[in-house]
Amino acid sequence: MIMKHYPVLLNEIIEKLEIKNNGIYVDLTLGRAGHSSNILKKIKTGWLYSFDKDSEAIKKSDNLLKQISNNFTLIHSDFKNFKQKLEELKINKVDGILMDLGVSSPQLDEAERGFSYNKDARLDMRMDTNQKLDAHFIINNYDESELIKIFKNNADVMLPERVAKGIIENRPINNTLELVEIIKNSLPAKIVRMKNPAKAVFQAIRIAVNNEFESLKIALNDSLNLLNSNGKLAIITFHSIEDRIVKNFFGNLIKNKTDHRLPIMEKKDWKVKIILPSKEEIEKNKRSRSAKLRILTKLS
Ligand SMILES: C[S@@+](CC[C@H](N)C(=O)[O-])C[C@H]1O[C@@H](n2cnc3c(N)ncnc32)[C@H](O)[C@@H]1O
Repeated sequence: MIMKHYPVLLNEIIEKLEIKNNGIYVDLTLGRAGHSSNILKKIKTGWLYSFDKDSEAIKKSDNLLKQISNNFTLIHSDFKNFKQKLEELKINKVDGILMDLGVSSPQLDEAERGFSYNKDARLDMRMDTNQKLDAHFIINNYDESELIKIFKNNADVMLPERVAKGIIENRPINNTLELVEIIKNSLPAKIVRMKNPAKAVFQAIRIAVNNEFESLKIALNDSLNLLNSNGKLAIITFHSIEDRIVKNFFGNLIKNKTDHRLPIMEKKDWKVKIILPSKEEIEKNKRSRSAKLRILTKLS
């Protein structure tokens, strides 16, 4: 079943970005342009730059956005390169940056992309289909310790050692549902009954395939200098490890607001706000349940 696409925390994003008619905005996770199209509607003389490393996202969104206006540029690239890509276009300052992290609904819904633990397909999970590394390679080639590291660092996988051992013993593993069965058979029945253990394992592998945390850390760092005064960096995370990266990054900025060489002066450079989806949104779109929006404003 193809699910209807609801951009997560859309009203909150549009309100908090305080979009200016003539502003420059960057959507680092275009997807199906749910957020981009609504940002574009608010821009008159400004410009929107939207990134995605999935070429399908670029192709499908281009048609949709053209129906709104032509004040946009789509860039097919990993967002870890966004600063350089913008510099090439002579853009050195922007008014708002958005990241709606993780996979898009179409990526999950289209079985052949191999992201879903509910649909049978070859193990793939690449957001960028030009990339060489895919889930099939990781599952069939990484050694036990590498798999355990992925399970521990990228998601809350229960009994990661058992899952890794189960994978190694059952190679070759080609398809998603084959992997789901192996995960279930590696774990005590009590754990399997509690919740589907494949969810966390798939998440961990997907993050490794797409090197998601590395890109996030680079993009966070590069965002700061690009923001104009009163510029906003809005980030939606969907799970605790991803959220911790953003929370710690913002937290360190706020802590560093005091110049320790000048103990009396406190220079407040940044403001952070956290917003969760409303009950109504969660009822309408189950995927928003775990979403957390953090907005950083550059004050100086
Ligand atoms: C949750 S979806 C965004 C949905 C979008 N906000 C919408 O409303 O349609 C995340 C998108 O970001 C893309 N993406 C994730 N990590 C990326 C990265 N490092 N570089 C470029 N695109 C990335 C994915 O391919 C996916 O299309």
